[in-house]
Amino acid sequence: MITLAPGTSRIAAAVACLLATLCLANSSALALDLVAPAPTAARRAELITLVRQDCGACHGMRLSGGLGPALLVQSLKDKPAESLKMTILQGRPGTPMPPWARFLSEAEADWIVNQLQKGFPSEN
Ligand code: HEC
Repeated sequence: MITLAPGTSRIAAAVACLLATLCLANSSALALDLVAPAPTAARRAELITLVRQDCGACHGMRLSGGLGPALLVQSLKDKPAESLKMTILQGRPGTPMPPWARFLSEAEADWIVNQLQKGFPSEN
């Protein structure tokens, strides 16, 4: 028969506590990872120029459509943000929509999608 030494349950409690701490620490690290920092004001100004000029070359200078479809609020507000982000980062193979992952981080693509779905800001 196994007899537990006195104090075992205290050790077990300490281990559980340590594991819980690790798990908590780990999940907050994960949360930090998911919430990538939003672009800075300077970078946001660059992104606005990029979208108005480079994306505008195909999507229209007012983003109301050209070679590519309109990127206006009415056209995008009901589309899933995640798939719009993937379209921007990876492009649409077999169409003229090129991938932008070399130029834009995920957080930047998220920011662009968010702005497009609310009405994209003008350059000033
Ligand atoms: C060379 C032309 C071209 C450029 C440059 C371009 N696009 Fe596109 N884009 C397209 C075309 C064409 C489509 C439609 C693809 C299809 O047929 O599914 C498209 C589709 C999209 C879609 C999906 C729209 C929807 O309603 O599902 C988004 C979002 C988008 N582009 C964003 C951008 C952004 C942001 C940029 C600049 C960072 C950009 N595009 C630059 C041609 C372009």
